[in-house]
Amino acid sequence: MEFFLDTGIIEEIKEAIEWGLVDGVTTNPTLIAKSGRSQEDVIKEIANLVDGPISAEVISTDKDGMLKEAQALAKIHDNVVIKLPLTLEGLSACQILSDEKIKTNVTLCFSANQALLAAKNGATYISPFIGRLDDIGQSGMGLIEEIRVIYDNYGFQTKILAASVRHCDHVREAALVGADVATMPLKCMKSLVKHPLTDIGLAQFLQDHRASLS
Ligand code: E4P
Repeated sequence: MEFFLDTGIIEEIKEAIEWGLVDGVTTNPTLIAKSGRSQEDVIKEIANLVDGPISAEVISTDKDGMLKEAQALAKIHDNVVIKLPLTLEGLSACQILSDEKIKTNVTLCFSANQALLAAKNGATYISPFIGRLDDIGQSGMGLIEEIRVIYDNYGFQTKILAASVRHCDHVREAALVGADVATMPLKCMKSLVKHPLTDIGLAQFLQDHRASLS
């Protein structure tokens, strides 16, 4: 499973790179706004740090506007992946970009049918938002399971990118049901390593080692 960091904050990316766990980065307009910088600047800087896919989202809601933005974003770096909303206009843009061999990430996916449409139009990634579905009492993980079955039934190559990941159990469950990628906030990535028995065991080993020297 690949791990993407879900952030527009450069310091967070630098920190996670040190752990060797960052295969790529996802951003969205909210995350870019939190950085207080322009999308272009943020994406350029990320591309200098991370050798992997970097998702940058379009703001336009019409196909032509999306395509214009996509062309400009794709010029920033070869690793840029164009994030498009799961609308009919977004799907049209997805098909055109896919024909042009520009990578896409179709975002704001909340149903298996939506994921099927994105795959039919050649999306590189589909982003089901599991946390936001959980928030309204629906099963985010159930959606990933359904998409996995549908994509495998028809041999779609679109990668399932578990998005809106909120905690470490989301990552474990997404891995169990076969998501290709999980994108997560820094805090979540950091929490994956935590287990109380690891801390207790390490303290005991160090104590026993010190005792053996005295
Ligand atoms: C990433 O691609 C998504 O935009 C992001 O994971 C959404 O997360 P949120 O639901 O926590 O805002």
